[in-house]
Parts: sequence; C-alpha cells; structure tokens
Amino acid sequence: MKYFILTGTSRGIGEALAHQLISDEHHLFCISRTPNESLAARKGLDYIQFDLNHTHGIETVINTIFDKIDPVKAESIYLVNNAAVVAPLAPIENSPVDQIIHNIHINLLAPIVLTSLFIHHSSHLPIDKRILNISSASAKHLVPGMSCYSTAKAGLDVFSSSVALEQGSKDNAVKVVSVWPGMIDTHLQEEARNADQETFASSVLFNQVKDKGMLTTPQFAAEQIKELLLGDRFTQGALIENLYA
Ligand SMILES: NC(=O)c1ccc[n+]([C@@H]2O[C@H](COP(=O)([O-])OP(=O)(O)OC[C@H]3O[C@@H](n4cnc5c(N)ncnc54)[C@H](OP(=O)(O)O)[C@@H]3O)[C@@H](O)[C@H]2O)c1
Repeated sequence: MKYFILTGTSRGIGEALAHQLISDEHHLFCISRTPNESLAARKGLDYIQFDLNHTHGIETVINTIFDKIDPVKAESIYLVNNAAVVAPLAPIENSPVDQIIHNIHINLLAPIVLTSLFIHHSSHLPIDKRILNISSASAKHLVPGMSCYSTAKAGLDVFSSSVALEQGSKDNAVKVVSVWPGMIDTHLQEEARNADQETFASSVLFNQVKDKGMLTTPQFAAEQIKELLLGDRFTQGALIENLYA
C-alpha cells in the first residue's frame, strides 16, 4: 500500500492531484478547511477537515494519520505540502497583520511542522518516503505586493534543501524535493487577478497571463506532479524549477 498525506485538497492543484492518486493500492489522507465532498466519498481516503493555521493542532492530526498507517502493509509514504494562501496582496506597510501572520503560518510554518512530524514518525521505516513541497517561481521572480508569499516560498525552498542535507543518503532517509508548478488556472490566480489595482498593481500582470492563455489546468499540473512524486526524477534535495521540462 502507498500512503499519501496531501494538504490543500478542497480545490485547485491539490484536488486534481488527490483525484489522480485514487487507486485500490493507495490510501490518501486529505487535509483542508473545507471538505471536498466528492473526494470524501471515495474509498481508501480519509478527509481531515483542519485549519493549518492552528499550528499546535498539527501534531494531533499527524499522530492520528500515523495511527492509521499499517507499517507492515506500507510500501511507501508521501507528504505533499500543497496548501497555500496568496494574501496579503499589497505593499508590506499596507498589509493587515493578521494576513501577514496567516500567510507565513500556512505557506511556511505548517510545511515545516508537517515535515518534522512526518520524519519523526517514519524515519525508522525501511521503505520509500518522500516529501514534495509545492513552491513557486515567486520565490525568485519578485513582483511588488507579494513579499510575504515570495518570502514564504523562498523559505520553503531553503527548508527543503536544508532537510535534504540532513537526511542525505543515510539509511531510511526521507527524500525532500521542492517544485515550482508553473502558472495554473486556480482560485489563487483568480484572487491575484481580482485584487484591488490601487493596492496591488501587479494584478494587471495576472490578468494579462490569463488573457494570453498562458495558464495551464490543475489537471495537467497534477499529472506532472504525480509523475514527479512517483518517478525517478525525485532525487534528494532537488529544486525543480521547470516541472514540464
Ligand atoms: N496556481 C498557480 O498559478 C500557482 C503557481 C505557483 C505555485 N502554486 C502553488 O500551488 C499550490 C496549490 O495552489 P492552487 O493554485 O491550487 O491554490 P488554491 O486553488 O487556492 O487552493 C489552495 C488550497 O489550500 C488550502 N488551504 C488554504 N488555507 C488553508 C488552511 N488554513 N488550512 C488548510 N488548508 C488550507 C485550500 O483549502 P481551504 O480553503 O478549503 O482550506 C485549498 O484547498 C500552492 O502551494 C501554491 O502556492 C500555484
């Protein structure tokens, strides 16, 4: 049995990835605030309605998940840190403090805590273990009004490399990879397009990208992410800047 822990599965890339991973040989644990009814109804899938902003509650969620993982049956275990928020979309001095905190909690702190607990629970298992962090080109390509998002994604890339260094090629190492998934037509893009131009002038860029047909679908992105997650390209510490290469 392959076990998958996926965050942010209520919509977008996470939802598409979860649908594509459903199989008799797979068991999925899906996490988001809003339950996705069509996923929750599927066999071989536990839907966990949880707000990753509640950092202290993450440990209980992971304990519950690992209680359900059968170490005898487990052939491999995967964690995909996919959940994210894009707000605040404004210069930092005009960004509400609660949005700043929320951004760093969801985009950086939650993946760090999930990674820590995942490795803690699985390090003794002599099976394939992988953590895929869904990052963004925003880690490097900066636009005004997205400092929190870019900082969190750059932090996620550095965190992935640091943990990959710790794990290295030791016995039972957990492999950690960070990926930039490209530009995908999801709620996150919509939020950037619809943001107030007064505070977020870069919304024009997001509208141009949409108008020029440059956005890919969540389904196509999820296909590539699934291939990366399960395939040979998943090498310790890799930062995949071009998922579609
Ligand atoms: N779309 C793009 O063009 C693009 C480009 C580069 C990178 N990415 C990355 O790709 C990943 C997926 O993004 P997407 O475009 O699919 O975004 P999306 O459609 O907005 O989906 C985001 C997911 O994260 C979940 N989430 C947000 N806050 C949460 C919280 N507090 N607790 C639990 N779950 C939470 C949402 O579920 P709930 O709201 O139900 O909780 C939702 O399922 C993100 O890491 C994003 O940074 C996207």
